Amino acid sequence: MSDNAFSKNILCIGAGYVGGPTMAMIAAKCPHYKVTVADINAEKIRAWQTENLPIYEPGLLEVVKKAYGKNLFFTTDIEEGIKRADIIFVSVNTPTKMYGGGAGKTADLQHWERTARDIFRIAESDKIIVEKSTLPVRTAEAMERILSANGKGLNFDVVSNPEFLAEGTAIPDLENPDRVLVGSKETERGRKAREAIVEIYANWISKDRIITCDIWSAELSKLVANAFLAQRISSINSISALCEKTEADIKKVAHAIGMDSRIGPKFLNASVGFGGSCFKKDILNLVYICEYYGLHEVARYWESVVKINEYQEGRFVQKMIHAMFNTIAHKRIALFGFAFKANTGDTRESPAIYVTRKLAEEHARVIITDPKALHNAEYDLKDILQKYVEFEADPYKAAEGAHAIAIMTEWDSYKALDYKKIYERMEKPAFLFDGRNILDHQKIYEIGFNVYPIGKPALTHF
Ligand SMILES: NC(=O)c1ccc[n+]([C@@H]2O[C@H](COP(=O)([O-])OP(=O)(O)OC[C@H]3O[C@@H](n4cnc5c(N)ncnc54)[C@H](O)[C@@H]3O)[C@@H](O)[C@H]2O)c1
Repeated sequence: MSDNAFSKNILCIGAGYVGGPTMAMIAAKCPHYKVTVADINAEKIRAWQTENLPIYEPGLLEVVKKAYGKNLFFTTDIEEGIKRADIIFVSVNTPTKMYGGGAGKTADLQHWERTARDIFRIAESDKIIVEKSTLPVRTAEAMERILSANGKGLNFDVVSNPEFLAEGTAIPDLENPDRVLVGSKETERGRKAREAIVEIYANWISKDRIITCDIWSAELSKLVANAFLAQRISSINSISALCEKTEADIKKVAHAIGMDSRIGPKFLNASVGFGGSCFKKDILNLVYICEYYGLHEVARYWESVVKINEYQEGRFVQKMIHAMFNTIAHKRIALFGFAFKANTGDTRESPAIYVTRKLAEEHARVIITDPKALHNAEYDLKDILQKYVEFEADPYKAAEGAHAIAIMTEWDSYKALDYKKIYERMEKPAFLFDGRNILDHQKIYEIGFNVYPIGKPALTHF
């Protein structure tokens, strides 16, 4: 079908965890739009064109299949994509900068700026540019400055449309979001561009859940949403440490406080810590911005959310070492799960990376199992000597001859394993460290394990 057969021609630059699923959903919901997703990574684009998608996300393949080849396309031809598009979503990665000024805190905008310059160089007509990546507040201003220097007489309107999906539930989140946020300049052109983006989502989302605002508030809202979510995890994790000292039970505390409608029950699961590509980087970004504006107390407050997370990961490893008689050298330890959360293969910033490295430093032998993340785990740990790490798809085999199991990811399948069978195959005394509090600890204890949950008294046989 020619481009003229479609009422909008949308391009998304960046075919990752956000760009791929978001555009697949738009294409599936809006057969009257042509949606093209472009990336510099040819291998990733090739994978999007097969049934073996480059990311695991429940329900994603079905959504892609609905539209692929009809009005959804994947390409490495960014130039052609830019020329043809009316609306360009930019969903490139914005990791923490690891060099120069702001290293370890501010966002690395090199991919973002490269995209702006590509658009600036290639565009032959007016475009609406949509910030989908999470960016420091006031990035749109810099983008507009780059684009308005085009000297071709073209108009580029920059709109902020931060993505709030969570990996593992991306498809239901996109299909039925709590809200969609679109920010723009409060000028006539800005408002018109904002309306064009609202119109896309209004194809399947009711208008009362599509909110609009100025561009700076939209950019900042994304950073603040992630900061608040991570802060809840660090808050409950900090209390889990106190529970372990006082024999209180974090699950009971979380239940009691969560029933207060002002607090609410979600995001109150104590664990080994949060991971994922966003929470830490977005908070550090917020910290950097606060420091830039001289708000040092505010910066310290948010920084403590990251520090408590690191403390929680460290505490988990220390607990393992201490419980196993202060030495884990040459002991086999099976990690159940490597993804940073269930229902994704994503391992970016997963606590399992930290835990594996610390266990390897103590010369333990770590056997890693995960239903979806083994490939990424191998990549994350490629620098660790083979004598310290093994990868095994089958959790029963992973536990064979192990001194301990550590649950690192809350996969449902780990709740349903036959722990009696696992116990029989392990070295004794057998230890189980439940970093996600997903098992029935009393039952596991009765099988014979020494059980160490998070934020609850340990159940031991000595
Ligand atoms: N992953 C999430 O759950 C999530 C949720 C909300 C927001 N975000 C934000 O969305 C953005 C993207 O995150 P992601 O997880 O999808 O990242 P990702 O690394 O999975 O994908 C980014 C893609 O951009 C591509 N890319 C980089 N530079 C490019 C260029 N110049 N031209 C074309 N392609 C280029 C990369 O090859 C990569 O495939 C980030 O800013 C992130 O903070 C992520």
